[in-house]
Amino acid sequence: MLKTALRLPITNGKFPDGGVVLDPPVVLAPMAGITNSAFRLLCREQGAGLFVSEMVTARALTERNEETLRMIVPGEGETPRSVQLYSTNPIDMARAVAMIGSEDLADHIDMNFGCPVPKVTRKGGGAALPYKQISSQR
Ligand SMILES: Cc1cc2nc3c(=O)[nH]c(=O)nc-3n(C[C@H](O)[C@H](O)[C@H](O)COP(=O)(O)O)c2cc1C
Repeated sequence: MLKTALRLPITNGKFPDGGVVLDPPVVLAPMAGITNSAFRLLCREQGAGLFVSEMVTARALTERNEETLRMIVPGEGETPRSVQLYSTNPIDMARAVAMIGSEDLADHIDMNFGCPVPKVTRKGGGAALPYKQISSQR
């Protein structure tokens, strides 16, 4: 049994206490092709937690790609709304974060720094991002 609750600070003014307490401290990992709103609903029915969307690319979001916009629509009553962003370009990432904030598209943003899939790392994204940072510091 997990005993330590996790406090997730959210400063968009929508949460009276400045965030939410995840108790039990369970986070559904983002999974491309899996964690759509229907899957998140199934998980939410099992109890409180944070349920992250499927990964969307920052660029497609800022270009208002129809499918990307559809992928971040939260389920009914979903709170907090969490979206995972992927990008290899910090400017696209910053723009996507600003868009989510100004258009109130989510409460929480998860950034993909860990995906090991070759299709993603070949382009320098996911798990290759922290590696690039370390290499450039050498
Ligand atoms: C089918 C599948 C898709 C995944 N897609 C993503 C993704 O889009 N973004 C991401 O950060 N991680 C992705 N992951 C990794 C998961 O988020 C998670 O980190 C991984 O499954 C390890 O989970 P665990 O630590 O609970 O064992 C994916 C994993 C699976 C199995």
